[in-house]
Amino acid sequence: MTKRTPLIAGNWKMNLDHLQGIALIQKVCWTLNDADHDYKDVEVAVFPPFTHLRSAQTLIDAEKFEVKLGAQDISEHEAGAFTGEISGAMLKKLDVDYVLIGHSERRQYHNEGNETVHSKVAAAFSSGIVPVICVGETLEELESRGQSAVPVEQTIAALSGHESIGEFVIAYEPVWAIGTGKVATPQEAEDVSKAIREALRDNFGEQAANSRILYGGSVKANNVAGFLQSGEVDGVLVGGASLVADEFSGIARYKKHIVL
Ligand code: 13P
Repeated sequence: MTKRTPLIAGNWKMNLDHLQGIALIQKVCWTLNDADHDYKDVEVAVFPPFTHLRSAQTLIDAEKFEVKLGAQDISEHEAGAFTGEISGAMLKKLDVDYVLIGHSERRQYHNEGNETVHSKVAAAFSSGIVPVICVGETLEELESRGQSAVPVEQTIAALSGHESIGEFVIAYEPVWAIGTGKVATPQEAEDVSKAIREALRDNFGEQAANSRILYGGSVKANNVAGFLQSGEVDGVLVGGASLVADEFSGIARYKKHIVL
């Protein structure tokens, strides 16, 4: 098991309205509180759509919930005439702790390349929000280049050339495993995490290499333990299963079903 604090992150994508979102956060937190979940032992974060963030912040604050709040995207710009964009300062004002950057759905449907990802990582660093940098290979890239080449390349591109590197998280999400029910094996997740960690060490030093690396792609309560048994995988980024309170809280409580 990892020596870093594991992060269980729920990416809601474009699902639920803000009232349903609040109900989901309540249910997850009540379930975890009933189970005496230690958030310092296993950190939990939710990434609702932008329209839910203010309500989520108010709820988390009022109920003193320990779940962390994340956004699904950030503008690379600070402010100005960028219709439809949301800045890092706006997110920070809503007590957003984390932001997803370079999710494969944004790379695929919004043409976000390594350059955009790099600028968004810079925006997160300068706003004091921890970027969760998503990397991963398509099926085609898996077949032509193997499993680690693209994730390693995307990691280096996202982090190179910044004045200084703050805290960050890498989420390894093989594109072929997202929403498909096709899941990477724990061994594959471990091997790619190892390759990313080595690249972090070689390019950015020991502190960067000690960052958390998550696995994502068809993670469920019944397969999460396999991934987190490895000391190389420091958490999971969950899509579909994060919309179901029992599933997501079950994932956060993975230690209950891990075989030591
Ligand atoms: P699924 O868990 O639905 O496969 O989605 C993974 C993902 O894209 C999380 O960011």
